[in-house]
Amino acid sequence: MAKLAASILSADMAHLADQVKLVEPYADSLHIDVMDGHFVPTIGVGPDVVPALRRVTDLLLHCHLMAEDPVRYFDVLADGGAGMVTSHVEALEDPGWAVSEATGHGMRAGLALNPETPADAAFPFLDELSDVIVMSVHPGWAGQAFLPEVLPKVRALRAEIDRRGLPVDIEMDGGINEETAPRCLEAGATVLAAASSIFKAPDPAAAAKWLAEIASSVP
Ligand code: DX5
Ligand code: ZN
Repeated sequence: MAKLAASILSADMAHLADQVKLVEPYADSLHIDVMDGHFVPTIGVGPDVVPALRRVTDLLLHCHLMAEDPVRYFDVLADGGAGMVTSHVEALEDPGWAVSEATGHGMRAGLALNPETPADAAFPFLDELSDVIVMSVHPGWAGQAFLPEVLPKVRALRAEIDRRGLPVDIEMDGGINEETAPRCLEAGATVLAAASSIFKAPDPAAAAKWLAEIASSVP
């Protein structure tokens, strides 16, 4: 069964705890986009949102760091209660170091791949990873259209993960909705991260429920 990650980027930040409560019954994790204004031009929520969310939910808090120097945030994220932290391979000279720093801080480790970055950029690190984020939009903004050209990369990652018998999730991030989700699942994704299709929907709870049902429909 695949899982749902609710990305708070599109949530109503004035009512964040209430928004989390709407999706909590259906989401397996909260996907928290931390953006530094350098790796991507935009600035997202800062690490302080992690302890704030930790006080209102028991969901896994997964920080997706779109930042040039992601490891510098690991101390504060681990202290705040993040359970998983994902860094971009494009930001790192040594992705393996970031992965071991994440697990050394007691967090599960992920690596993220931009749309242009090939699957094999993650292959050397799969044994230590919990999650690979495959960006299906260019990072930085919610509400963009899904890029179907990343689907062969998902298949390549799935084939390598299965060949090695590893329990690594493939998390799709960007443009996920009821039309694109089944295509990602068919290609081998195991986590659907969605912001706009949940939090911009008229009924976020119903939207999360529907996406969770799509995710759980795969064996
Ligand atoms: C994009 C972020 C995504 C974003 C997805 O830079 O990494 O997590 O929240 O937003 P939607 O689901 O609206 O494409
Ligand atoms: Zn993200």
